Amino acid sequence: MLKLDLSKVSPFLPQDYVTSRQAKLEKAASMLSSHSGPGGEFTGWVDLPRDYDKEEFARIKAAARKIQQQSQVLVVIGIGGSYLGARAVIELLASPNYNLKKKDTPDIYFAGNGLSTDSLLELIALIGDRDFSVNVISKSGTTTEPAVAFRIFKAMLEEKYGKEGARGRIYATTDARRGALKGLADAEGYEEFVVPDAVGGRYSVLTAVGLLPIAAAGIDIDALMGGARLAMEELSAGGPENPAWQYAAARHGLYQAGKKVELLACYEPPFRFFAEWWKQLYGESEGKEGKGLFPASVEFTADLHSMGQYIQEGERLMFETVVKFAPKGQFIIPNDPDNVDGLNFLSGKPLSFVAEQAMRGTILAHVDGGVPNVLIELPAIGEASVGYLIYFFEYVCGLSGHLLEVNPFDQPGVEAYKKNMFALLGKPGYEDLKAQLEMRL
Ligand code: PA5
Repeated sequence: MLKLDLSKVSPFLPQDYVTSRQAKLEKAASMLSSHSGPGGEFTGWVDLPRDYDKEEFARIKAAARKIQQQSQVLVVIGIGGSYLGARAVIELLASPNYNLKKKDTPDIYFAGNGLSTDSLLELIALIGDRDFSVNVISKSGTTTEPAVAFRIFKAMLEEKYGKEGARGRIYATTDARRGALKGLADAEGYEEFVVPDAVGGRYSVLTAVGLLPIAAAGIDIDALMGGARLAMEELSAGGPENPAWQYAAARHGLYQAGKKVELLACYEPPFRFFAEWWKQLYGESEGKEGKGLFPASVEFTADLHSMGQYIQEGERLMFETVVKFAPKGQFIIPNDPDNVDGLNFLSGKPLSFVAEQAMRGTILAHVDGGVPNVLIELPAIGEASVGYLIYFFEYVCGLSGHLLEVNPFDQPGVEAYKKNMFALLGKPGYEDLKAQLEMRL
């Protein structure tokens, strides 16, 4: 399913960059499969494509059908790992223009992923008087942004449909036992879905966290899981020929050789939010203890006309990972008898041929400019290829974190701003910190 081309990385690394890391990769792979080592308790995602909860999966599909029948709009409330995966998959598989399309599935809007008053007011106006449902997602059940948004949309639903009617339109995805959202969902009798204990937020797209909104958008979640399962089976084999091992070794080698930024590039605009998901996955997993590649992303060819200058000639601190999907359709460039634009040398050629040459030319130019290039090739964008890619990136991320000798499954740094925000907001229990912070402002 996935072809990895590292030929444009090799000139930048010693020949043995995979085999010299073989022992470490073996250990990393064994920690992942045996759920041991740093953060081992959060490696439930490793077997998820095979061992997912089948009963809950059926409930997800039933809930998605109910949402499709009841509502013209689904508001998905969540942030970070409780947001990016669903949006990434919906935009990649159903288009960033999904809401504009004529369809028999609901428009999907994302809320609770920030604190912008203007965005909230705009969203309320966009929903207008249409029927809507809400999927509130929070593993901890205590994150401020989604909690505030849920309070607002819950009140809107109750005003529009009454308490009982609202109950039938709210779906809560949260921890099986703990947290304010769990308590609220139990008390109110909402339909509940679980974020498994052993799966951290940024690895949760293939749980109810991602699957319910994705299914509500009409995407085939069986096929998505099927693609992920294939990746799980193929990548668990390990060994220096394994593309996950090779990619993890290349990333680690390049990092040690001074390349501190990994730029994820794709020539498909619907990939933009997938790159946002990828940035969280890698940024939160590797960026700790003063270490880690900085994950960034670009959209080609558009960004070749902006960031292209820096990539070609700026600080030599980056390498690129290009994701290339086979085209789904074909468009032939027409002939113009007058050839006023001088483009007849392209007449009769598919647009994808032009894109292919742009990619090939760019890779060579960037390599000449000192930017190593990893190329990941996949079949056309579809449930199976996207499911495969999700698992591939997750697995490489786990391996990479262990190569870097950090815990790839915690995120202690995310807490720092939360403590300050709670203190400044006057949350009970934070009085001393509030006084200290106020003095510094
Ligand atoms: O990866 C993470 O753990 C974070 O990005 C969380 O997903 C994010 O903070 C949201 O947390 P929660 O699902 O508990 O509301």
